[in-house]
Amino acid sequence: MIRSVASDWRICTGCNELTNLAIPMTQQNPEQLQEQIEHLEQRLLEAQKNSSLGELVSTTTHEFNNVLMTIINYAKMGIRHKDEPTRDKALSKILAAGERAARITNSVLGMARNRSQDFAAVNLEELIGETMVLLEREMQKYRISVEYDLGEVPPVTAIGNQIQQVLLNLLINARQAMTEGGRLIIRTVHDAETRSVDLVVRDFGSGMAPEQLQRIFEPYFSTKDGPDASGKGGTGLGLHACHKIIQAHGGKIRVESTPGKGTCFTIRLRAAQPIAPAAMPELPGVGQTSSLT
Ligand SMILES: Nc1ncnc2c1ncn2[C@@H]1O[C@H](COP(=O)(O)OP(=O)(O)OP(=O)(O)O)[C@@H](O)[C@H]1O
Ligand SMILES: [Mg+2]
Repeated sequence: MIRSVASDWRICTGCNELTNLAIPMTQQNPEQLQEQIEHLEQRLLEAQKNSSLGELVSTTTHEFNNVLMTIINYAKMGIRHKDEPTRDKALSKILAAGERAARITNSVLGMARNRSQDFAAVNLEELIGETMVLLEREMQKYRISVEYDLGEVPPVTAIGNQIQQVLLNLLINARQAMTEGGRLIIRTVHDAETRSVDLVVRDFGSGMAPEQLQRIFEPYFSTKDGPDASGKGGTGLGLHACHKIIQAHGGKIRVESTPGKGTCFTIRLRAAQPIAPAAMPELPGVGQTSSLT
């Protein structure tokens, strides 16, 4: 089993390379360079956010279209067949599809409402639910069964929208790693002692070799040729953005992977506590976990 914790300086090496492309080193002093790095990092994160949003818009529109087709077809059936049982069946199907459409729009509106860049108490279970409404059909299409193991966890101190961006990136990566279908586990665990909550995304897909695992948080590192059949992926910015977001949250991101067995990402965030930020303890690492089996 191979582990990688994104808390070292490899990421910064990547950023310097990026900056060097844009600004001649000789004209910059270290402070200016640092400022430029931060500016470019910010733009990179914005780009990744827009790319995730773009992917979501396409997923959601597609989903909405499926629901509309269901409604239209059952309405046609109800018009064609005058008998009561058929009409009842058609109306129940229309009702169920309408309710699903409402859930989809609520999810999108939830994301829009979450646009704030402020830290707040975020309910992870709700966030997972809203995110999965948008991805559940896609998971079905690729024959991925999603299992939930959601513990009694307190809200976390987070920017909800950004954590949703992280979750989406992890879930889409997991789906893409299981080309022949498979299992996906989403787990939340509360550690009262460290006042932290773990959000775990575990797939049983391709897994990664050590050389690959070492590079996954670098910007533009991707093993994908380009967008897949569903129009997703391939920029190599997803995990880099995840790392930056979690770092800005004062959290941890950790990955374990075994080729042929799958991958497990753990995001550790601070539980929302009614204590002054200055009194918050430094979060320890995620600690040791057993090998993937
Ligand atoms: N769950 C996973 N299983 C196997 N490999 C993974 C998994 N998640 C990430 N990877 C590897 O890490 C690489 C980087 O992932 P990242 O999400 O940053 O970029 P990407 O998925 O290639 O493109 P995008 O920027 O569109 O997300 C992937 O190309 C893939 O090789
Ligand atoms: Mg990705």
